[in-house]
Order: sequence, then C-alpha cells, then structure tokens
Amino acid sequence: MLSSIVPFLLLTGLAVGAVVERHNSTSTCKYIPGDKGWPSLKLWNRLNSTVGGRLIATHPLAEACHGATFSSTECEYLKENWLAPDVFTPLPGEILHPWFTNQTCDAFTPRTTPCELGNYASYSIEVTGIHDIEAGLSFAKNNNVRLVIKNSGHDYFGKSTGKGALALWTHNLNKQEIVQYKSKHYTGPALKAQSGVTGAHMAEFAFNNGYRAVVGSCPDVGVVGGFTQGGGISLMSGLYGLGSDNVLEWEVVTVDGKHLTATPTHNADLYWALSGGGGGTYAVVVSMTTRLFKDGTTSGTTLEFGIDSMGGVEQYWDAVGVFFDELRSLLGTYGFDADIIVTNDTLSVFSLLSASHTAAELRTLTQPLVAQIEGMQRSNNNITLQAVNTNTSDAGSYFKLYSTTLEPLIAPNPLTPVLGGRFVSRANMDENPGAVIDAMRVAVDGGKFTLAVSALNLTSPARVVPPVAANSVSELLNDAALSIILVSAWDFGKRPWTDAVALQADLLNRIMPVLEAATPGAGAYLNEGNWAQQNWQSEFYGSNYDRLRKIKAAYDPDDLLYCLTCVGSEAWAQDGDARLCRTES
Ligand SMILES: Cc1cc2nc3c(=O)[nH]c(=O)nc-3n(C[C@H](O)[C@H](O)[C@H](O)COP(=O)(O)OP(=O)(O)OC[C@H]3O[C@@H](n4cnc5c(N)ncnc54)[C@H](O)[C@@H]3O)c2cc1C
Ligand SMILES: *[C@@H]1O[C@H](CO)[C@@H](O)[C@H](O)[C@H]1NC(C)=O
Ligand SMILES: *[C@@H]1O[C@H](CO)[C@@H](O)[C@H](O)[C@H]1NC(C)=O
Ligand SMILES: *[C@@H]1O[C@H](CO)[C@@H](O)[C@H](O)[C@H]1NC(C)=O
Ligand SMILES: *[C@@H]1O[C@H](CO)[C@@H](O)[C@H](O)[C@H]1NC(C)=O
Ligand SMILES: *[C@@H]1O[C@H](CO)[C@@H](O)[C@H](O)[C@H]1NC(C)=O
Ligand SMILES: *[C@@H]1O[C@H](CO)[C@@H](O)[C@H](O)[C@H]1NC(C)=O
Ligand SMILES: *[C@@H]1O[C@H](CO)[C@@H](O)[C@H](O)[C@H]1NC(C)=O
Repeated sequence: MLSSIVPFLLLTGLAVGAVVERHNSTSTCKYIPGDKGWPSLKLWNRLNSTVGGRLIATHPLAEACHGATFSSTECEYLKENWLAPDVFTPLPGEILHPWFTNQTCDAFTPRTTPCELGNYASYSIEVTGIHDIEAGLSFAKNNNVRLVIKNSGHDYFGKSTGKGALALWTHNLNKQEIVQYKSKHYTGPALKAQSGVTGAHMAEFAFNNGYRAVVGSCPDVGVVGGFTQGGGISLMSGLYGLGSDNVLEWEVVTVDGKHLTATPTHNADLYWALSGGGGGTYAVVVSMTTRLFKDGTTSGTTLEFGIDSMGGVEQYWDAVGVFFDELRSLLGTYGFDADIIVTNDTLSVFSLLSASHTAAELRTLTQPLVAQIEGMQRSNNNITLQAVNTNTSDAGSYFKLYSTTLEPLIAPNPLTPVLGGRFVSRANMDENPGAVIDAMRVAVDGGKFTLAVSALNLTSPARVVPPVAANSVSELLNDAALSIILVSAWDFGKRPWTDAVALQADLLNRIMPVLEAATPGAGAYLNEGNWAQQNWQSEFYGSNYDRLRKIKAAYDPDDLLYCLTCVGSEAWAQDGDARLCRTES
C-alpha cells in the first residue's frame, strides 16, 4: 500500500516543481525581489505617491544586531525585549511567530550573519482609509505581487506575512464609536470599530461608555482582524458567545475595489463567511459593528495546585481529572469561562471568570471544586501539604477586573517557535475523559510542551443571547468543551534552531496523534493550531469548508488574498525560493 503511494507522491511533487519552474513568467508564481518581473523602483515610488507617502520598506528591528546597521545598545535592548508585544506589534513589517521569522534577522544570531527579509513582507502600506486599500489591491494585482493583510501580527500560521509581499498594514486604522443599532436582527447599543482596534482598547472604550464587548484574553490581539473573523474565544463567551456571534455588520473593500457592507440580509454570503470563516481570505475589512452589553459586576478566581500540594505525581494527575470534570459542570451551569495552564507538575487557573457574579458568589460556587481537590491531597513523605491556592476578586466592570488582574499576567507572554492546537468536544468529555487527561499527560511529559487551555461552554443555560444570525463558526468550535494550545518550551538565544525543528517533528509525529486519538471528531481552532495540521480543511472549518470555498471563489476568483490554511489556499504552495505559486487551477 505504502510502496504504491510513495512513488505517486514523488511524481506529483516533481510534476508540480517542473510546472512552477517553467511558468513563473506567465504569473503562475508571484514575483519576489530579484525576479525579472519584480516591479521597478519607479513603480514602487508611484505607489508611494498614490498612498500619500505611506509606503514603508521593511527594515526588521533586529537589523540593529547585524552588519553595517549594528548598534550595541539597540541590540541589547532587543535581546531583553525579544518579541515583547509593545516593541513588535506597533511596527509594520514585524510579526510575532518565530517559526515564520525563521531567524532570517533576529537578535540572537551572530553579528556577521546577514539580516535578510526571508518571510518578512517587502513593503507595507500604512492604511488610513479605503483609498489606500484600493491602491494596494490594484498594485498587487497589476504587478503580480503577493498581498497580505497585517494587523497586529499575532497570527500563528504566518498569515500576516510572506516573502516579497506587499502588506496592507491596518494597525493605525483604529477609530471606535458607539452607535444605536437597529435591524431585523438586533436593536440596541453597538460598537463600530475600525480594523486596527486591539482587545484592550476595545474593552476600555466600551467600559468608558458603560458597556462591555466580546474581546479575547490577549490585550494586543486585533479584535476586528483574525480574532473575530476566525471565531474569537473570550472569557465572556459563556454569556455572549464568540466574537463572530456578535457581529452586526462588516464594512469591507473587495479585491476588485468595491466598498461594501455585509450584514445578515445584505451581501449575506459575505457576512456569513467573514463571521467565523477566517481572516485574510474573502475581502479587506475596514470596520465591524458589534453588539455591546451593559457592563456590571465581574469576578474572577485563580486556583493552583501541583505535585507538591497533591503529594505526588499520580495524585496530581488524578486531581487534574477531577478538576476538569468539576469545572465543566460549573461552566455548563453558570456560564463561566476559564484560562488554564497545565504543565507536567502544576495546574494553574489564571482566570476562572464570571461576568455576572460577585467575588463572594463566585467563591461559594467554586468552593465544592476546591474542597474536592483538597480532599485528594495525600501526604506520603511527611511534607506539610499546602492548601489549594485561590484568590478571588471582583470589580464593577469587565475592563477593571481584566486590566488589574489579567492583563498584567497575559501581556508579556512572548511566543515560542512551535505551537499546536486541539479541541476537546462535549462528546469526548462525556465518553472518555480519562483518555483526554492521559493525552494531556503525554503532551506535557518531560516539560517540552505546556498546555494553555480555554475552557468554554457555548450552549450553557446561562448564555444571555444567541448569535446575531447564522455564521460560519465551525460546529466543532461551537461544540468544544476545551480549546487546547500546546506551547513549546523555549529560550531565545540559548537553544539552536535545530531544537525548534525537532520540537515541530515531535509535536506532529508523536504528540498530536495521541491527542487526536483521545479526541475523535473534535477538530481544532483555526486561529490557534499548527501550520502543518493534517486535513486542516475539515479540522479547522468543519462542515462549512465547501460553502466557504464557493464564497471565496465568488469574491476573490484569482486568489489575490492567500494565507496558509486559509480557505482556498490548497491551490497554492511555495517553491524552493519561497515564491508563492499556483499548483492547481
Ligand atoms: C498571545 C496570543 C493570545 C491570543 N489569545 C486569543 C484569545 O484569547 N482568543 C482567541 O480567540 N484567539 C486568541 N489568539 C489568536 C488570535 O485570535 C489570532 O492570532 C488572530 O489571527 C490575531 O488576529 P490579528 O488581526 O490581531 O493578527 P494578524 O496576524 O495581524 O492577522 C491575522 C489574520 O487576520 C487577517 N486580517 C487582519 N486584519 C484584517 C482585515 N482588516 N481584513 C481582513 N483580514 C484581516 C490577516 O490577514 C491574517 O490572516 C491569541 C493569539 C496570541 C498570539
Ligand atoms: C522566474 O524564476 C526564476 C528563478 O526560478 C527567476 O530567476 C526569474 O527571474 C523568474 N522570472 C520572472 C519573469 O520573474
Ligand atoms: C514614501 O514617501 C515618503 C515621503 O516622501 C518617504 O519618506 C518614504 O521613504 C517613501 N517610501 C519608500 C518605500 O520609498
Ligand atoms: C526556514 O529556513 C529554512 C532554511 O533556510 C527553510 O528550509 C525553511 O523552509 C524556512 N521555514 C519557513 C517557515 O520559512
Ligand atoms: C454545556 O452545558 C450544557 C448544560 O449543562 C451541557 O448539556 C453540555 O454538554 C455542555 N457542553 C459542553 C461542551 O461541555
Ligand atoms: C515520616 O516520619 C516518621 C516519623 O518521624 C518516620 O518514621 C517515617 O520514616 C517518615 N516517612 C518518610 C516517607 O519519610
Ligand atoms: C489576590 O489578587 C489581588 C488582585 O490581583 C492582589 O492584589 C493580591 O495580592 C492577591 N493576593 C494573593 C494572596 O495572591
Ligand atoms: C517536568 O519537566 C522538567 C523539565 O522542564 C523536568 O526537569 C521535571 O523533572 C519534570 N517533572 C516531572 C514530574 O516529570
């Protein structure tokens, strides 16, 4: 069986390679710098005047660590703040995921190593309005240049970068306004936010006006970009659903330069696709209008236990099992959400959040869970066991609680080179929770990976509102009890890149198969997974893939918008020089 498939794959691989070589001059491949077809300086300068001088050539920050541009103070600063979001996210060309920056220009390679652009975009347009977007789209199309949309650069799949790309950089398009919305689907307060608005800014703006909006845990993630277009898991999802569930209206520029509005009734197919079907795929979003909710009491609790407090490794994993079981019933009853870190020796809930209870109420409701775990503590070597560590607090608003307790914990997290993702479904938890916990144990064994787990229940009776309208959020996300991210341990500057390559192989070949076997049919989150996920069409998009692909073909028939694992991207691949080439028509 295998022996007959392998030659077939080799042959197809060769055939594709050959086609790519012969036809790049007939635009099967996008041009990269150095190609004869790459636009002349004169053309770039003309684009620059069209966009009011806001065309920016990429100079990676870590230029300061290499060659003639070396500066010892700047380079030392970068080493200390490597991938710090406030250093990297405000800049056009930088992205955060190290796998895709791929050390072509980083602070830790030797000074003599040249700083090369690699997967960085070549140019960015600082977008200030519709005209800039239209200019960028038409330049990319007319000159056969790869195009990407870059907002915060948080994406884990390199979707907001690409070799030789022109980036539409939306970070500074960040106005927000409160509107009173009225439609067949919703009447009430809403927030119209331009595409560069971040989670922290949206939370604060809503708070200043007496409301809360559905945002993610990370302050710097762009709410209107990848987050809401790809689903959007929030610590308030138990009450209000996902980011995508709350969108009333998208304002977009289509690849052929049309300025459109998409709602559940107007350009309804585009509304459906943009609300959950992934960023960077169907059109360039200028703004979204999303439901707001009246702000009020919000409480959160931390909780931590580990091998030391439980009295041994087996007791620890038994307690992990009990914890997830009890947590699930709390979420399924009260609409809480939780973010949890699981390592080989500690489980740490850095937030179990309720957007509708006081601290006193939350303490009472979570007490049985805490008591059950404490009841499992076993002293077997004469050490004094500590109580399970909890700290519950509340505030009169989501933003206040978030900005004082959570943001300081989440904001500084730098990204590591290797990351994977998997959902655990309702059925997995009902049918075989033991297998799920065993798979978690395999995943963190030896400390190579840590799990960052979002626990959610989108169908709890505590949910306040259904989705605004039907959307393309995968049924797999709607059915998830847990969304797990596997994050590799890493130490910038201290480990060779070959370790990253080995971690990627270990994740794909050893860990993911165990996790997938324990979670049949569960799928994975299109915003938080590994770039090499097998069967990504069904794992990330569930049963919506075919319809999404049709909508993609209708709005972007020539695939001007491409990103790895985005809908329709199977028709493209990079050649050996990272040129993006069409491999199927
Ligand atoms: C530290 C960290 C924490 C996270 N926390 C959460 C979380 O709590 N919940 C959650 O659900 N996810 C979370 N994520 C995942 C996050 O939602 C995705 O990484 C998301 O893609 C980021 O979107 P962005 O626009 O900020 O990033 P970018 O990398 O700039 O863009 C991501 C994608 O969206 C596209 N895009 C951006 N702007 C537009 C636009 N205007 N029009 C069309 N397409 C656009 C880009 O082309 C790209 O394909 C987290 C990620 C990180 C790194
Ligand atoms: C086609 O690709 C080759 C490298 O494979 C490159 O040298 C050449 O310039 C490209 N042709 C055009 C027209 O860009
Ligand atoms: C675009 O024009 C501005 C203003 O003249 C200039 O500062 C900038 O360097 C130009 N960008 C590029 C890529 O040449
Ligand atoms: C990183 O660089 C290596 C070596 O040049 C290359 O083989 C690999 O494809 C690159 N990875 C990415 C994601 O660009
Ligand atoms: C969500 O809660 C409901 C009600 O308790 C329950 O029936 C359902 O199984 C839960 N879903 C998940 C994903 O845990
Ligand atoms: C615990 O303490 C008792 C009494 O001091 C001692 O006899 C026993 O060996 C100790 N057990 C362990 C596992 O250290
Ligand atoms: C509990 O949390 C509050 C708010 O974050 C913090 O000020 C306090 O120090 C914490 N207490 C403990 C014991 O961790
Ligand atoms: C957890 O992993 C670390 C490596 O990061 C290792 O030193 C430690 O022994 C591991 N602990 C357990 C209980 O396996």
